[in-house]
Amino acid sequence: MTGVEAPENSQVLPERPRAAGRQDWTAWPRYNEAGSGYRGYWYPVTWANHVTGEPTSHTICGEKLALIRDAGKVYALHDRCPHRGVPLSEGDQQFPGTVSCPYHGWTFRLTDGKLAAVITDGPDSKICGKLSVQTYSVEERLGLVWVYIPIGNEPVPSIDEQLPRELVENEGVVGGRIQPRGGNWRFACENGFDEGHAKYLHRTALWRLFKPMPTWNITSIVPEGRWIYRVQDEVYWEADFPGVGKWTNKRWWKKKPDESQISQIGNVGAGVKVNPVIAAQNFPGFASLSMPGVLRIAYPNFIHYEFYVPVDEDHHQYVGLMVNFETGVKRLGFYAKYLGAVRWLFHGQFSGQDEWMVRVTDAPPEKLYRPDVSLTTWRNLAEQEYGEKIAAAVAFAPAAPDRPVRERRASAARKTAQPATSTESANGASAPTAADAD
Ligand code: FES
Ligand SMILES: [Fe+2]
Repeated sequence: MTGVEAPENSQVLPERPRAAGRQDWTAWPRYNEAGSGYRGYWYPVTWANHVTGEPTSHTICGEKLALIRDAGKVYALHDRCPHRGVPLSEGDQQFPGTVSCPYHGWTFRLTDGKLAAVITDGPDSKICGKLSVQTYSVEERLGLVWVYIPIGNEPVPSIDEQLPRELVENEGVVGGRIQPRGGNWRFACENGFDEGHAKYLHRTALWRLFKPMPTWNITSIVPEGRWIYRVQDEVYWEADFPGVGKWTNKRWWKKKPDESQISQIGNVGAGVKVNPVIAAQNFPGFASLSMPGVLRIAYPNFIHYEFYVPVDEDHHQYVGLMVNFETGVKRLGFYAKYLGAVRWLFHGQFSGQDEWMVRVTDAPPEKLYRPDVSLTTWRNLAEQEYGEKIAAAVAFAPAAPDRPVRERRASAARKTAQPATSTESANGASAPTAADAD
């Protein structure tokens, strides 16, 4: 089926206060604090066919996850045994529908994380059913396993609301690469949507060996629905820099750009036939970005997506997908092109240049320039969307935790007992019992 993403109401993102020289990120306080990512979103974790009955360990938004497949379905549990903190991903399956910690055999049910058996405490273990590990919502889409990282107890939104709509409504062939990378996820995301760098940094990429890129552009950033788009208003293929000289990316061996038109599909000029599914999307610009860090680059024959998955303050996971909407034998052509060239040239060497820059970026402080409107508009979008999400999630905030048992006992004793007994009770309640673990 073919879907058209009808332009939703254009919205105007609010102007944020200008920090002096925009040297820091105080104008975007939630963004500033989102070093280990935004909770309340689905994240692609790994390839679906990498998840088997052997649990694997992953970190998303600073949260440790154990993924395991049982009877065909993937489950995600907090990767920490509550007994002594050993990762459950180091364990294995002793019973169907469960995972057992390798240390003392505490065994957790995959569906709800409840402690179902404690192998080394016998069948009548009193602690069974009294505690559990957190479980996470899991979906399989596009050959990937996606996990929802909750803010609190909010209802889990459908993943289809978050995925790019054209991927929900169309069949596609997917080629991709997942890579753990250094650098904060925000640097990766900002690099992906950064207006200025591609023309300069990637001029040496083999992917662009025969395709020139402009020298500079005049660009506007257009919000539409959940996305912001980079729209090329003017494209300059060469320029004279006063007192310095002429500069261009044009070379005699590169394809001559069509300088009479500006294309919003691909970044090498107009004139190439566009796949009907891609044309039907009517994207206002060829590069677009949405929360929680999803980049979409529309080329004539495929769309390239990058998901910048937060791991921790200093690491992220790069998930690059190239999706082709051909059917039948034409799909074989895409596979051949992907495996023979795209994977190495684009997801490899070209994207490796980005990886290098993201790893060495160190901001704030920063001094932004005109093309960085792409960065500031993204930060505005993130700030606004996450503000709304947090406001909606407040109603589902987890209840304040019960006071610890020891404290409850102590205060009950204070109310009812003589002073001597009260002291004894407060000090004497420290031996761990099954109830303590509740
Ligand atoms: S640490 Fe997991 S069973 Fe003991
Ligand atoms: Fe880049």
